[in-house]
Amino acid sequence: MNLIEAKNISHAYRGQQVLSKVSFNLKEGSWTALIGPNGSGKTTLIKLLLGLLPLQSGKLNFWQKEYFKELGYLEQKITPPKLMPMTAFEVVKMGLLSTKKSPKIFNKEDIKTALKMMRTTNCFQYRNKLFTELSGGQQQRVLLARTLVNNPKLIILDEPTTALDSTSRESFFELLLKLNKEQKTTILLITHDIAEIGKYATDFMVLDKELIFSGSKEDFCSSEAVANYFGSYTQHIMDHLHSEESCPFPAHEHHHKDKEAK
Ligand SMILES: Nc1ncnc2c1ncn2[C@@H]1O[C@H](COP(=O)(O)OP(=O)(O)O)[C@@H](O)[C@H]1O
Ligand SMILES: [Mg+2]
Repeated sequence: MNLIEAKNISHAYRGQQVLSKVSFNLKEGSWTALIGPNGSGKTTLIKLLLGLLPLQSGKLNFWQKEYFKELGYLEQKITPPKLMPMTAFEVVKMGLLSTKKSPKIFNKEDIKTALKMMRTTNCFQYRNKLFTELSGGQQQRVLLARTLVNNPKLIILDEPTTALDSTSRESFFELLLKLNKEQKTTILLITHDIAEIGKYATDFMVLDKELIFSGSKEDFCSSEAVANYFGSYTQHIMDHLHSEESCPFPAHEHHHKDKEAK
């Protein structure tokens, strides 16, 4: 089932076109990787989906509106809390506020939930430090905890791993994998880590002002549009995507046949 159906989404900033007739479906339960170079319109597209920018043209259908009450969004730009200095723990607790009815008071259960999520995302150890005094990677983990603390059914993450080292990045992706597999959380992830994401994503979208490709990983691997777009890099990308033992796609079969032929 599709959670979101987008048709002919175009967008311009002060007359300058940055998205052109983008159409795609976001499948429930999928882990969709949205890739594309800097300035290709990825963040703009996400903001349109979330209603953070007004839709100028095209159509967006949201099936299952309740999903959008249980949505976690981690934005690309880290915006530290401005008004008050907050500890990492307080930032994570804030994530619980959106679904709370008045009075917005934290109970014991909330505190347990927030601390548990901080352990999961590996930021428990600096829970009492001021958010603004943490490193970029540490801040990203705190913000991830804040995003996930409500147990959202759909999470949209805009380049969440840029400030993470490769070990943290892997545990980050493993955590998302667990959510995707065990809780059927739908994930839309903007990333430049094509190689690493190939291990995890079930679906791909390639955006460069226009949508170059949208579909399953299997179709991505055999798509002519993808091959044309990435040109001489295609083989490199496919090598990465096929490097996993479990990858069920054609390159493996070829590999197999090659072996048999020998
Ligand atoms: N608020 C804005 N005002 C004007 N131009 C913008 C604004 N936000 C983004 N852009 C421009 O729109 C294009 C797409 O940006 P963006 O969606 O952030 O791309 P990406 O996330 O793929 O890097 C870029 O050329 C960017 O400079
Ligand atoms: Mg962006």
